[in-house]
Amino acid sequence: MRAKIIGTGAFLPPGVLNNEALEKMVVTSDEWIVSRTGIRERRRTTDNEASSDLAYNAAKHALKNAGLKPDRIDLVLIATATPDMLLPSTGCLVQGRLGIRNVPAFDLNAVCSGFIYGLATADAFIRSGAYKSILLIGVDTITKFTDYSDRTTCIIFGDGAGAVVLQATREKKGVIGSRLYADGTKWDYIHVPGGGSRIPSYAAAPSDYYMIMKGHDTFRVAVRGLEQAILDLLKQTRVSLRDIDFIIPHQANTRIIGALAEKLKYPMEKIFVNIENYGNTSAASIPIALHEAVAGKRIRNNDLVLFASFGSGLTWGASLVKW
Ligand code: COA
Repeated sequence: MRAKIIGTGAFLPPGVLNNEALEKMVVTSDEWIVSRTGIRERRRTTDNEASSDLAYNAAKHALKNAGLKPDRIDLVLIATATPDMLLPSTGCLVQGRLGIRNVPAFDLNAVCSGFIYGLATADAFIRSGAYKSILLIGVDTITKFTDYSDRTTCIIFGDGAGAVVLQATREKKGVIGSRLYADGTKWDYIHVPGGGSRIPSYAAAPSDYYMIMKGHDTFRVAVRGLEQAILDLLKQTRVSLRDIDFIIPHQANTRIIGALAEKLKYPMEKIFVNIENYGNTSAASIPIALHEAVAGKRIRNNDLVLFASFGSGLTWGASLVKW
């Protein structure tokens, strides 16, 4: 059994935060942001929009494109680092809102690598025969944990959700393989210190709820990690890079993507980039990009598509899919 992606969907909150608006909040410039990151604008949720709202809309979109009613789903899996609340899981909130009953739902947190971790998990469940139709959503609302007086982080992140419906198939299509990695010794490269059991609300200062990032260090390990994940996965699946039709990397920074292309000697024209419009949407970035690539007919039947991601944890990984 293989896990085939039979539908994709995405949802971006309508509020746009462009570089000109950021110029009014911190000492920065559109020119600096575009040249260092490739980002021109990103979406930002309002006080009334939470991760489950974005996830629900993306899920409805993916289910419609898959031609599947919600009651055909037998597992709801959400990759997120920014749940609506500490408990219950956002998976349960979305499952309830979709009106699906008596099927498991849970969250998985691998931050920006959440979609790849989720895809590998869904694939394993389908290969084992445990579930046949899985709804996998990558969603994050990092702007809720962003300090808009910190110019090193506020220029990068945006909010969004992307979803896929995976179904068991005997066709030679779907997820071929995945590689997952973590290095917890570097947990402090990107983190939000407060709100958990280490610094609970009664001990937290307001600034403890904001993300802190070592941008420069992260940049270097990101390029190395992405390259390692891709090369290891190609070796594991015995596929040559020349045969890869399309790469969808996590949208963290165009310079990271450019450096990766250079290291791999892989043409930029075959790498999907939409960071200009959305910034880094964490676990949502790959499924949003995938949806746009599918909707824009950039991916064709039988194409070999490679996903690769990197993020807080540190976590990184890659997945190979035959479309
Ligand atoms: N506007 C203008 N200047 C800025 C700035 C901003 N928004 N942010 C930082 N600077 C300044 C710094 O203060 C520094 O000034 P100094 O030389 O006077 O000290 C200078 O620009 C260079 O800073 P540096 O941090 O070396 O820049 P950089 O080229 O590494 O770019 C990032 C910064 C954050 C864009 C880059 O490191 C990056 O993208 N890292 C990866 C982050 C990431 O992808 N995280 C998510 C992983 S999932």
